[in-house]
Amino acid sequence: MIRECIVITQSKAGAVHIAPLGLIEEGEHLVIAPFRPSLTLDNLRENPFAVANYTDDVLVFAGCLTGRRDWPTKPATKVPGAVLQQSLAHAELQVVAVLEDEQRPRFRCAVIHEETHRPFHGFNRAQAAVVEAAILVSRLHMVPAEKIEREIGYLQIAIDKTAGPRERQAWDWLMERIADHKTKTATERRA
Ligand SMILES: Cc1cc2nc3c(=O)[nH]c(=O)nc-3n(C[C@H](O)[C@H](O)[C@H](O)COP(=O)(O)O)c2cc1C
Repeated sequence: MIRECIVITQSKAGAVHIAPLGLIEEGEHLVIAPFRPSLTLDNLRENPFAVANYTDDVLVFAGCLTGRRDWPTKPATKVPGAVLQQSLAHAELQVVAVLEDEQRPRFRCAVIHEETHRPFHGFNRAQAAVVEAAILVSRLHMVPAEKIEREIGYLQIAIDKTAGPRERQAWDWLMERIADHKTKTATERRA
């Protein structure tokens, strides 16, 4: 079971870093598995705490993937870290073990505190589509162009049928990034 959430880590100097990551459930623990290189990984080594933010605001997912990382936060309650203002709920985590790996070290975390901030208003297909498209955008350099086109074509249906303004904005940011990537690879091919 993997929970897609917004992970906030903090450097030793106190600089906050916001990134979407999938947290892997392992019994009562949550595992953070960042691919190298990663600022999340560097921060976890300097300050072995994190906040898992559960949010339905997909603008944060799309924003982080398109260079818009400056989202409002407030201090966490029990760990040196920060909570995303838009969270419906959050969990404060402490790293209890590190499994080293060349590509993708795994930080096993204990949940030491949880808070709920607002109600969950049900599933929305456009939000799920934005999360899927954000994952595609994070792998643009690895995924063949035809696969991206095919999957975006399918996800677009949920956007057209069920999106609100925030989901549309998030989708537009991601589509701009895909278009930029297309132009860049076409230019590189011509050079
Ligand atoms: C829904 C979602 C889940 C993601 N899960 C992971 C993950 O588990 N590990 C990872 O390295 N990157 C993951 N990514 C990509 C990271 O968000 C992105 O590469 C990020 O910038 C991590 O690098 P950073 O720590 O330097 O910011 C995910 C992206 C999305 C949209």
